[in-house]
Amino acid sequence: MAAKHTFDAMVIGGGAAGLMCAIEAGRRGRRVAVLEHAERLGKKILISGGGRCNFTNIHCKPENFISANRHFARSALARYTPRHFIELVERYGIAYHEKTLGQLFCDGSARQIVAMLEQECADAGVEIFLNTKTISVERGAEGFLLETAEAGFSAGALVIASGGLSIPKMGATCFGYDIAKQFGLGILECRPALVPIKLNPNDCKDYCDLTGLSAEVIATAGGRSFGEKMLITHGGLSGPAILQASSYWHAGETITIDLAPDQEAFAAMLESPSGRDLTSAKTELRKILPARFADRWLDLHASERWTNRHVNDLEGDLHRWQLMPAGTEGYAKAEVTVGGIDTDELSGKTMEVKRSPGLYFIGELVDVTGHLGGFNFQWAWSSGYAAGQAL
Ligand code: FDA
Repeated sequence: MAAKHTFDAMVIGGGAAGLMCAIEAGRRGRRVAVLEHAERLGKKILISGGGRCNFTNIHCKPENFISANRHFARSALARYTPRHFIELVERYGIAYHEKTLGQLFCDGSARQIVAMLEQECADAGVEIFLNTKTISVERGAEGFLLETAEAGFSAGALVIASGGLSIPKMGATCFGYDIAKQFGLGILECRPALVPIKLNPNDCKDYCDLTGLSAEVIATAGGRSFGEKMLITHGGLSGPAILQASSYWHAGETITIDLAPDQEAFAAMLESPSGRDLTSAKTELRKILPARFADRWLDLHASERWTNRHVNDLEGDLHRWQLMPAGTEGYAKAEVTVGGIDTDELSGKTMEVKRSPGLYFIGELVDVTGHLGGFNFQWAWSSGYAAGQAL
């Protein structure tokens, strides 16, 4: 195959990580190409944060990420911090606000973030090839050779930034994992994360007609707890607390939900031995949960007896509501993929494959998955920057 295009570095995938990497390498004088199979750049950025892109989190720490090696992300996150991305956003005059818990969103539209990255690419001399699907990747004596339907490309360095498996209908592919396999790299088991859970048929029969109701809860899965909103959906549970817990949940395990964090719902009942019944319990629980949910939960959990022990047990059940999910809504609804390219294969400083110099993996493909709240984009920026500095 005769290469028609020759660059110093090629980046496959024009999403958050790939664009940041290309910008940094371009700025450092490298001739860089971004090969994107979609018709436009940054499609996931455009739909992120409900169209307003939660582009970072000011409280970003390595502890906000899931990885088999909890130290791996540390170096990249320390060198390109939320402050760096905020400075870029401010330089472009993009208005933003903190929504909650350090999460920064555009006031206007996620389109502003994509436009900013496109402008940065143009300023850095990055060449963008849209609608360009890579058919094959080979390593030759002089670097990497890529074949696409239209042309051949060659470069000394190759960055794989093709993202995870979530939202296949938006163009997510297993391309990056296939390339990792081609080069003999280890991949840690992938599963959908930040994803709504499906209740088992019995629980769904009991609760799913309450779709749309929400409550402040603490959801716990895999030993990690998250206090935020839970939302009942037509097939199960969603909302930030559940999405966060889903990243730690494995099939066959339970999710535990505290439906009344830091509150004693039935304390008043314990104080008085008279007037204890289902109606008074509902009156108390309606102070904490939406009325229909409070009533339903009590109809299904309250005993017919109202001794101190029974009231205490009910209080305990309320703080430890155990559910055995049937599964998750899968990659179709997941925000991210947990698992991915084994970080043992990569330099934490540059994202270069240790056994294959010149080859880099960045972004969501790598076994580094952020919590909900802007952490996944921060990882994309930080890992992209780390590779861009090394190219
Ligand atoms: P990303 O998926 O962004 O980019 C990969 C690119 O590679 C895509 O442009 C894709 O088309 C391209 N590609 C794939 N295969 C290819 C191939 N074979 N050849 C060429 N190109 C190929 N995170 C966050 O921090 N804040 C938020 O608000 C949100 N919101 C959000 C909402 C929704 C609905 C989803 C699905 C996800 C989020 N996320 C998020 C997660 C965030 O979008 C995600 O972590 C980053 O986009 C990952 O960046 P990458 O660059 O690694 O992949």
